[in-house]
Amino acid sequence: MPEVMLSAKNLQRSFYGVRALNGADLHVRSGTITGLIGPNGAGKTTVFNALSGVIPAESGEIRFDGTDITHWRPEQISRRGLVRTFQIARGFPRLTVLETLLLHGDAQEGEDVMTALFSPSRWRSRERELVNRAEDVAAQLNLTQVLDNMSSDLSGGQKKLLEIGRALMGQPKLILLDEPVAGVNPALAADIAERILALRDRGLTFLIVEHDMDIVAQLCDPVIVMAAGVRLTEGTFDEIVADDRVQDAYLGQRT
Ligand SMILES: Nc1ncnc2c1ncn2[C@@H]1O[C@H](COP(=O)(O)OP(=O)(O)OP(=O)(O)O)[C@@H](O)[C@H]1O
Ligand SMILES: [Mg+2]
Repeated sequence: MPEVMLSAKNLQRSFYGVRALNGADLHVRSGTITGLIGPNGAGKTTVFNALSGVIPAESGEIRFDGTDITHWRPEQISRRGLVRTFQIARGFPRLTVLETLLLHGDAQEGEDVMTALFSPSRWRSRERELVNRAEDVAAQLNLTQVLDNMSSDLSGGQKKLLEIGRALMGQPKLILLDEPVAGVNPALAADIAERILALRDRGLTFLIVEHDMDIVAQLCDPVIVMAAGVRLTEGTFDEIVADDRVQDAYLGQRT
């Protein structure tokens, strides 16, 4: 069994008296594409917000890659190698695809300014390294042809890929993807799935929230099922589909 890269214990979070997380536990093993599914409102995005520090849990414990990151700020967490994407793609500023990628290549802008002022040659070689990285990321995501296009002009599927590209620019170990194929046509969804598999084969680990069960079945092992703010169960896709508790959780949503 590969080692545990990320573990969260007993996460609690309420919003205006509603318990979004009610003692959620989960772990992600190194080299896996772990799925996180569950009905609308189960708390999946809230887990991502807690893990990435964007909206911290009120209590609980998070360990990542051998370190307790429980009270860390989002920038510290992403610099450590745990990076997330957002369910609703945030607005893309008036930047080209290349510029958008470069913008996410470095979290330490202050240091960059000092380097640019006092060590211009080192700054230029750093710039070159960043451009190389952006080109490499674009190639992995089939975005090379659109590097000089405005990000806002990309197709829906390409925007999803660029969202993954932004995450990759931070050279993460673990990426949290929130609904990477939502709203994308089936052919493009299959393409995005292929890209995710290829990235996993290059050593990345993923935790993926997704409602498209074909994609979950194709990509994710294991699959964690959440309901009402807790982890209901975990297993292979076939195991969780056959589990009555999982079926009840999804049916309960429709009543
Ligand atoms: N920032 C917030 N402010 C107020 N309530 C929130 C906030 N984030 C989540 N919630 C509430 O917490 C609960 C869990 O929401 P969450 O977004 O985590 O669900 P989800 O499993 O991601 O659902 P979906 O599959 O629809 O994306 C919901 O009742 C939601 O309304
Ligand atoms: Mg969500």
